[in-house]
Amino acid sequence: MSELIGREKEIVQLDIYLQKFLSGAGRIVFITGPQGVGKTVLVENFLDSVRKTYPNLFVAKAECHSSETDTAFSPFNQVLNLLLSTKDSKGRIVVSNKFKKFMLEYSPDIAKLIPVFGTIVSSMVKVSMGVKKILFEKEDDIREESDENRILEQYTGTLFKVAEQTPIILFFDNFEFADDSSAKLLSYIGRRVEGHRVLILVSYDKISDKEHRISKIEKELQSTKISDSLDISRLSKDDVMKIIDSRYSPNDFSRESKETLAEFSNNNPLVVDLYLSNLRDSGKVVFSEGKWHLIATVSEMREMPRSIHELCEKRFEQLSEKLKEILTLASVVICALKSSSFPRL
Ligand SMILES: Nc1ncnc2c1ncn2[C@@H]1O[C@H](COP(=O)(O)OP(=O)(O)O)[C@@H](O)[C@H]1O
Ligand SMILES: [Mg+2]
Repeated sequence: MSELIGREKEIVQLDIYLQKFLSGAGRIVFITGPQGVGKTVLVENFLDSVRKTYPNLFVAKAECHSSETDTAFSPFNQVLNLLLSTKDSKGRIVVSNKFKKFMLEYSPDIAKLIPVFGTIVSSMVKVSMGVKKILFEKEDDIREESDENRILEQYTGTLFKVAEQTPIILFFDNFEFADDSSAKLLSYIGRRVEGHRVLILVSYDKISDKEHRISKIEKELQSTKISDSLDISRLSKDDVMKIIDSRYSPNDFSRESKETLAEFSNNNPLVVDLYLSNLRDSGKVVFSEGKWHLIATVSEMREMPRSIHELCEKRFEQLSEKLKEILTLASVVICALKSSSFPRL
């Protein structure tokens, strides 16, 4: 994890939300801002210090990826997998005994989606599903909607059950890429979280939230006062220059060139990072005699693309043909694996 530069005000604010939660108020906190502004690094640093100060809390993070927008409940399955796992005497990861019985009895539909349940669940769930099927077939009129509610209830019930034993902090990163089922579940949990020992931090980029799905949930929950919002604004130019110095240490970059980089990137640290990596790829940032040197002129720097997308494309173009082929293949395989591992709802 990168060292956090600046963001003192945001840390104070996150700490206020944490204190509210510790005093018993379950909450959802939305953390918004453009891509690369520093949402992930802020929350990760904050949670790192929370783990040290409060070792008894359960802290888990799940990332949402654009390749998973159709994988039902993906971020929730990731965190429940962590919540329900423990190590046995031989150091193997197994389902925690504390929750095994509860899950199989009350949450069988979701237990089979949680990787740690693996094979133990399949036989037991089959039995319970078999019983349900018989019951369901007796009732002609089981609507899809009540099926969905049952699943939302099972996820929420499991989370609250675990929280009875240990207060939980969850961090869902890049929630704009969450699947629709997870968005529904977040809203469902949000409306019931008060009074439970659960704090959920949700980061997302409003621009990528094209259908305003998460913004809508955020507004809905705000109106009932169970959520808070933290908008992450741009860093100051000085902080961006400090990030450059910490990434390229030691260096002899001139103040003017660092200011130019900050200005071109609109003080966005991710853009600065990509910018400098591109300059390094093309031999304009070099390490010699124990120091980093920047040998690009301002006009050469002006020719560089400035959007995150173009900067990534440019880096990709500079890779060897073999590496490009491997990366393309890997991304196809990962997409295929991810979309086949969980059922679509
Ligand atoms: N305040 C900061 N201090 C140090 N590095 C930062 C800071 N903000 C952003 N960065 C760096 O910039 C890059 C993008 O930050 P990230 O947290 O991934 O942005 P976001 O999650 O908003 O897309 C990362 O490499 C991160 O380490
Ligand atoms: Mg991020």
